[in-house]
Amino acid sequence: MSPIPSETEKIGRYQAILEQLRNKIPSLSSKQEIFDYVIQLLSNLPHFQWTGIYEYEEPKQMLFLYPTYVGLPTEHIQIPKGQGVCGSAVAQDKDIIVKDVTQQENYLACSAHTKSEIVVLIKKDSHVLGQIDVDSDEISAFSDTDKTYLQQIADIIVQNLP
Ligand code: SME
Repeated sequence: MSPIPSETEKIGRYQAILEQLRNKIPSLSSKQEIFDYVIQLLSNLPHFQWTGIYEYEEPKQMLFLYPTYVGLPTEHIQIPKGQGVCGSAVAQDKDIIVKDVTQQENYLACSAHTKSEIVVLIKKDSHVLGQIDVDSDEISAFSDTDKTYLQQIADIIVQNLP
């Protein structure tokens, strides 16, 4: 298991990620390139043991896992709106931090190692396009610092999608 970075270390690492992303994103011309790059950058954070993006299809009321996630394989390739932490984030239209997944009702286990999770919505105007989903093997790995920076990353994704 990797230790959780201090808040100060998190901020430094996220600022470096934002700088890399802002520098690189003008050269990325497809949704695939953008998602792949974001997932790769984020997955280097020491408290990120599973890093992925789900896309949301409103007509089907369903989340679909983007294939190039980093982490152990998961059976949760599709998640209906309202189910699990991921589907609840869509249904409630809000970002969710789960400090201890054993205490979470309506939790869909990805891996037996996962102890905490964060879901940050990717939104264009008021429409949910998807979400960044991260699992940690450490309890309480995610704080408002993670939420704030992942929201900025979600905004950069939306602003640059072709
Ligand atoms: N734990 C999520 C399912 C996705 S996996 O973590 C990759 C949930 O409860 O919705």
